[in-house]
Amino acid sequence: MNAYLTATAHAQDDPSDFWRQQARQLDWMRFPQRIFEQQSPEHYQWFADGQLNTCHLALDRHVLAGHGERLALIYDSPVSGQQRRLSYGQLLEQVARCAGMLRALGVEQGDRVVLYMPMIPEAVIAMLACARLGAVHSVVFGGFSAVELAVRIDDARPKVLLTASCGLEYERVVPYKPLVDQALERVAQAPARVVVLARPQAHAQLQAGRDVDWDALMASADAVPPVPVMSGDPLYVLHTSGTTGKPKGVVRDNGGHAVALNYSMQAVYDAQPGEVFWAASDIGWVVGHSYIVYGPLIRGCTTLLYEGKPVRTPDAGAFWRVIAEHRVNVFFTAPTAFRAIKREDPHGRLRQEHDLSCLKAVYVAGERLDPATYDWLRASLPCPVIDHWWQTETGWPVVSTPRIDAGYPVRSGSAGLPVPGYQLAVLDDQGDPVPPGEPGNIVLRLPLPPGVLNTLWQDRQRFLDSYLGTFPGYYLSGDGGYVDAQGYVFVMGRIDDVINVAGHRLSSGSLEQALGEHPAVAECAVVALDDALKGEVPVGFVVLKQDARVDPGQLEQELVQRVREQVGALASLRRVLVLKRLPKTRSGKILRKTIRSLARGPEVAVPATIEDVQVLDELRQLFAEQGFYGAGPG
Ligand code: COA
Ligand code: AMP
Repeated sequence: MNAYLTATAHAQDDPSDFWRQQARQLDWMRFPQRIFEQQSPEHYQWFADGQLNTCHLALDRHVLAGHGERLALIYDSPVSGQQRRLSYGQLLEQVARCAGMLRALGVEQGDRVVLYMPMIPEAVIAMLACARLGAVHSVVFGGFSAVELAVRIDDARPKVLLTASCGLEYERVVPYKPLVDQALERVAQAPARVVVLARPQAHAQLQAGRDVDWDALMASADAVPPVPVMSGDPLYVLHTSGTTGKPKGVVRDNGGHAVALNYSMQAVYDAQPGEVFWAASDIGWVVGHSYIVYGPLIRGCTTLLYEGKPVRTPDAGAFWRVIAEHRVNVFFTAPTAFRAIKREDPHGRLRQEHDLSCLKAVYVAGERLDPATYDWLRASLPCPVIDHWWQTETGWPVVSTPRIDAGYPVRSGSAGLPVPGYQLAVLDDQGDPVPPGEPGNIVLRLPLPPGVLNTLWQDRQRFLDSYLGTFPGYYLSGDGGYVDAQGYVFVMGRIDDVINVAGHRLSSGSLEQALGEHPAVAECAVVALDDALKGEVPVGFVVLKQDARVDPGQLEQELVQRVREQVGALASLRRVLVLKRLPKTRSGKILRKTIRSLARGPEVAVPATIEDVQVLDELRQLFAEQGFYGAGPG
C-alpha cells in the first residue's frame, strides 16, 4: 500500500496508536496514558491525562535542544518600512517577560486576554505569553468595528485587553485606541486593564487608572516559566461567523492542537525544522493562529510575519520580493490575494524580477481556488500549487493533496483528498451518502481528530445544535461539494448564509442587522454575489417603510457607512438596492439563494415554496437595469 493509504488506514483502524505516535514527537510535561476516551458519539477526549505547555513546545524546547540561535520570526512590514529578526532565544526572552507583564496585571491560568492588534511581533509575543501562563487568548481581527469588538469582549470577559495605538493600511493609519474605547463603553463588563503599545505613526490617549503603556510595563517585567496545563485546557477562543449575527467562540485545546499542528506541518506542508514558512494571512484569523504562530514554531521553522498587502505595498511584486528576500520555502495565502496580483501584473513581469527557486510549494485556502487562478499560478511558479480546505472550527487542514506520497497529482478545481485522521463523507439532505460525483453536504464522521473544536465558548448546546445535530454521528461543515470516483474532494461553497469576502468569513445576519436598524428600512436581505477579485461581495437588498422619503443614493451611502461602523471595513459592502418586496417562501423565509442565482443570470429554477412568483420578474428587471447581465454588478 502507498504511504497515503497506509496513514489513512492506520488513523482510521487504530486512532489511539496513530495519534500516540504523533504525540511522542512533542515534549510533554506528563505524557498521556489515556490517548482517546469516548463516553458517547459526541463526548470524547484526546490525551485526557496529558500535561504540557504550548509555549514551551513552541519556544523553550527548541532553545533547550540547542537551537536558541535559529531564526524564529522575521517581521517584514512594507507599510512601516521596518524589518526585525528574532532568534528562538530572543523570542523566548520577550515572551517570558510579556508573560511576567500579564501576571503582574493579575492574569492567571484560565483567565482570558483579548488582543486587538495589528500584524506586529508584539502580537505574536502576547499570544505565546498567554499560552505560557495557561491563560486563554481571544484575538479580534483589526478590521472589525468597535461593535464587533465589544461583542467578542462580552463573550470572552477578559481580565486584560492588549492593543496598539494603530494599524497601518496602505498609506492609511487606522487608530485602534478610539475603537477600543468605544467598544469598552458598550460592554457589560470591561477588562480591568488595557495595555497599549505605542507605535510612532499614531498617539494613543491613555485613560488614567485603566490604560497602561506596553513598553513601560515590559521594562520592569520579570521572566516567568511555562505553567503546566492539562491537554484539554483551552489555549484560545477564536470567534467566527455563523449564520446568525452572534459569532461562535471556537475553543481550541492545548494538547490536541499541538499534536495536530505538528503532524500537519509534516503531512500537509512537508515543512522541516529550520525552513522558512510564510502564511500571508492575519493573526486575527485561524490561518494566522495555526500557521503564523503555533504550527511553524512548534515544528522549529522560521515564521514570517508580514504587515502589508499583496498589492500597493508598494506594488504587485510585494509577495515575490518577500519570498526571494527571506528565502521562503513554504508559502500560504488566499486565492483572492493572487487574483489581486494577477489583475495588476497579468503577465507576471514583477515576478520575473525575483529568484523564487527557494519555494517548495504554495498553498491556498480560505475560498475555492478557481481554475483560472490555478492555471495562472502554475504558469508563474516553479513549484506545486496546492489548494486545501479547512475551517476555523477544524484548526488544521481537512483536505489537501498528500505530500507524503507522490502518487496523487494536484487536480485543478479540487482541494485534494481527506488528510489522514479525518473521515469525510457527502450526504444528501436526508443524511444518506450520495454516489461519487453527486453534490451534497460535506460532513466529517465522528470522532473528529485531535485539534478540532469540541465545544463553543460557554455554549456546548450551541455546538451540539449547530454542528452535530443535523446528521447524527457526523460534523456538519456548512460547505457543499462532491467527491469524485478517485476520492478527490471538490468544495463548491457554503450551503448556509455565511459569506466569504476575500477569504474573510462574515455572516449575512450581522450585515442585515446593521441595515435593518436604519429608520427608513422595513426589511432587508444581504446576499453574497460573485466578484472577480474578492470571490464574493455582499450586496444589500432593502424594502423601505411606506412613509420613508429618502434619496436612494443618499440611503445607499448611509447604509454602507452603517455597515463599516457596525461590522467593519472588511465587510466591503458597497451596494444597496431598493426593492418593492423580497422573494420569500410561503412561510416567510427569504430566498437568498434565488436572489443570488438571479443576479448571475435571468434564468432560474423557480422554488416550489415561493410565495409570489412575480417578485422574480421585479428582481430580474432590477438586475437588468443595474447592468448585472452585462458588465456585472460594477
Ligand atoms: N485593520 C483595519 N482595517 C482593515 C484591516 C485591518 N487589519 N484589514 C482590512 N481593513 C480594511 C481595508 O483598509 C479596507 O478598507 P477600505 O474599504 O477603506 O479600503 C477594507 O478593510 C477591506 O479590506 P480588504 O479585504 O483587505 O480589501 P482591499 O480591497 O483593501 O484588498 C485584497 C483586497 C484582495 C488585496 C485583500 O483582501 C487581501 O490581501 N486579501 C488576502 C486575504 C487573506 O489574507 N485572507 C485570510 C485568510 S487566508
Ligand atoms: P474560515 O473559518 O474563516 O477559515 O472559513 C472557512 C470557510 O472558508 C469554509 O467553510 C469554506 O466555505 C471556505 N474555504 C476555506 N478553504 C477553502 C477551499 N480550499 N476551497 C473552498 N472553500 C474554502
